[in-house]
Amino acid sequence: MPENEERASFSGKVGFVLAASASAVGLGNLWRFPYLTSHYGGGIFVIVYIILAVTFGFSLLIAETALGRKTGKSCISAFGELCSKYKWIGVLAALVPILIVPYYCVIGGWVTKWFAESAMGGLSTLASSGYWVSFVTGGETGDMSDPTAWFLIFALLCVVCVAVGVERGIERLSKILMPLLLFMIIGITIYEFTLPNIWDGVVFYLNPDISKLNAGTFMGAISQIFYSMSLAMGIMITYGSYMKKSVSIEKSARNVGVIDTGVAFLAGLMIIPAAFAYDHPDAQSIGLMFTALPDVFATMPGGEIVAPVFYLLVLFAAMTSAVSLLETVVSVFVDLKAIKRKKSILISIALILVLGMMSVLGFGPLATDIPLLDGGAGWLGIFDTITNNFMMPIVALLTCIFIGYVIKVTVITDEVKADGNAFVSERLFEVMIKYICPVFLALMLIVAVTITFGIYSPY
Ligand code: PHE
Repeated sequence: MPENEERASFSGKVGFVLAASASAVGLGNLWRFPYLTSHYGGGIFVIVYIILAVTFGFSLLIAETALGRKTGKSCISAFGELCSKYKWIGVLAALVPILIVPYYCVIGGWVTKWFAESAMGGLSTLASSGYWVSFVTGGETGDMSDPTAWFLIFALLCVVCVAVGVERGIERLSKILMPLLLFMIIGITIYEFTLPNIWDGVVFYLNPDISKLNAGTFMGAISQIFYSMSLAMGIMITYGSYMKKSVSIEKSARNVGVIDTGVAFLAGLMIIPAAFAYDHPDAQSIGLMFTALPDVFATMPGGEIVAPVFYLLVLFAAMTSAVSLLETVVSVFVDLKAIKRKKSILISIALILVLGMMSVLGFGPLATDIPLLDGGAGWLGIFDTITNNFMMPIVALLTCIFIGYVIKVTVITDEVKADGNAFVSERLFEVMIKYICPVFLALMLIVAVTITFGIYSPY
């Protein structure tokens, strides 16, 4: 959002929900949720995810939004405004998007490539066996120019959006395109139900297998909630600062949570059974979305048209999220270093290029086998793990302690009630923020550390 814009500038009730949903719904729902669900055993992960979303996700979303609206500041200053000693929590939160944006652009590049290829009649290429792996690794020749080029194209699209300041335009567009994406996901899923061998996948997705439940399931689910709902990185604080006092924070948070979780659930239902139907050996890999769906489109009547339209809508959803991330990064440098926006955009571009190229080349010449959690994805996996499994739980934990014990919960609950209505889930919120979230997040950090150092292996 342009820095000189007045605060409280979201229009009425839907403004916040629209902008926050546009940020929340993205590759997290379509790319990350399905492969994590596959990885953590299907239905059991889905149930744990939904339970954590309505408790943790919902509470943290309310907390961050209220923090933003109360202070009228973006994340860097919001903590300091309420207690100057704790400004550094905001700084830590602001570091998260800096590490996410570059690799987000890499995956956004894959979506752009899948759109362009399917639009140019290359659906059968995308559906050919091993195509995604050969694309990201440069194939037999190891030529990385293709994944590099698509990463740069996606990054450029995002940088131009932020530099030109058309965020408002794309937010308005997303009002039409997001429901369209949802309809397409539902339509594609209905078509898939007519395919042979689809039901094994549906059962895997919907029927929880308790024997697969372990500490890793919870760790995977909570990391996914942060990522998918754009939490623990200051974004919702900034969005809250643009929210009018008359709007209900509780209802808005509920709407955003339901939209984000709903899209993730449907995306999983569309992607995971498809992988079963076409017998994909790499169903747990980060390439799941890119390998399973082209097979479906290739057999679908009219698939040559459905595929590019679908990928275009995914591209749009990814861009709205990436732009919200990038905008945060740019404003972080402006806030922190008191530099001009232009210079800040240049610094952001440099970071995207360096860290993004590490992620691209991590599948080729820069391959590394640092054993990090779900690893196996080179630098991209390392950035993903560091942010989602370590930094975000730390930021969320600190936010809870800050609200629960430094400024006290009533500061936030009073803000939630500032619209004049009751805070229906006030009790749940208090208990979550003061007790359950901090304990659970501390445990999750311990789990992440023990898995990373090979002390505990849940798999
Ligand atoms: N929530 C977005 C998604 O699901 C990703 C994102 C993370 C966007 C953080 C903004 C901030 O894709």
